[in-house]
Amino acid sequence: MNDLTDKELVQKAIESQKYSYSPYSKYKVGVALLCKDGKIFTGTNIENASYPCGLCAERVAMSKAISEGNTNFVKIAIAGSSKKICTPCGLCRQFMAEFSSSLKVLCANVEGKYEEKKLSSILPSNFESSSLK
Ligand code: THU
Repeated sequence: MNDLTDKELVQKAIESQKYSYSPYSKYKVGVALLCKDGKIFTGTNIENASYPCGLCAERVAMSKAISEGNTNFVKIAIAGSSKKICTPCGLCRQFMAEFSSSLKVLCANVEGKYEEKKLSSILPSNFESSSLK
């Protein structure tokens, strides 16, 4: 298990903003995702001239992890580049809930101020695979 504190995970998220590709919104988002086995995956938002093609930092970090065989997540720190605390968009909430509805979400601002939320409390009644049966 990784013994990184929440504050350190938030710091990692802020640091990963340096790779954000966000020439359109100029809003950088950095993410640090902690897996059950202690591995940490980072991610940034990646925008595109065709705006809807852009990706949020949360889905980038999670996709990096999943595509390398990691699907057990404990905590995700999300930091935006403004003074307002960054909370995940609806699409990312649904994306993350697929893998862990009990995920702890640390929503942070650029100064490292953060609030902890449980994914299931910020996305109640999410669509689930059991509905497909
Ligand atoms: N964005 C994220 O990467 N994550 C969030 O939680 C909120 C929004 C990105 C998408 C876009 O590149 C920019 O922030 C402005 O919406």
